[in-house]
Amino acid sequence: MIAVVNGPNLNLLGRREPEIYGSETLADINAWLIKIFESRRGFDFGVGGNIGGQPEFSDGLWLEFFQSNSEGELVSKIQELGFNPAVKGIVLNPGAYAHYSVALRDAIAAVPAPVVEVHLSNIHSREEFRHKSVTAPVCRGIISGFGKMGYALAIESLL
Ligand code: DQA
Repeated sequence: MIAVVNGPNLNLLGRREPEIYGSETLADINAWLIKIFESRRGFDFGVGGNIGGQPEFSDGLWLEFFQSNSEGELVSKIQELGFNPAVKGIVLNPGAYAHYSVALRDAIAAVPAPVVEVHLSNIHSREEFRHKSVTAPVCRGIISGFGKMGYALAIESLL
């Protein structure tokens, strides 16, 4: 399983500053990700231990999606996923927590599963307070500025 985890305010995609984040909702983006990997890999329903109700791809991969506005919930989710041997990797858009959450950074550093950080916008071309990510140094890599394609690239990097 590859988990796609989104942090605060990303539930507002589509309505939130569309000139920066685009007009698609988070549900649109998640459905698009399933579609891309479905067409590439082919579904194989009913095989394996899929716990989240998402269809499983023919090679045993499946995607799970989670979003929370709460720092504590994100920390708990990273802990839970990160020690689950079924999890091949975690794609994480920490939202604003990237810029200051030492608790989230510590959770990422604590778990064996690789985490790839994604930002829809290019955080380096925006306000100075967004230039620093405290979570990025403990992630396998960071993708920033490519919109929803960043999630697909991050998943690809974990396969
Ligand atoms: C974001 C960038 C963050 O600076 C911001 O706080 C967000 C979204 C992005 O996807 O571009 O909430 O993570």
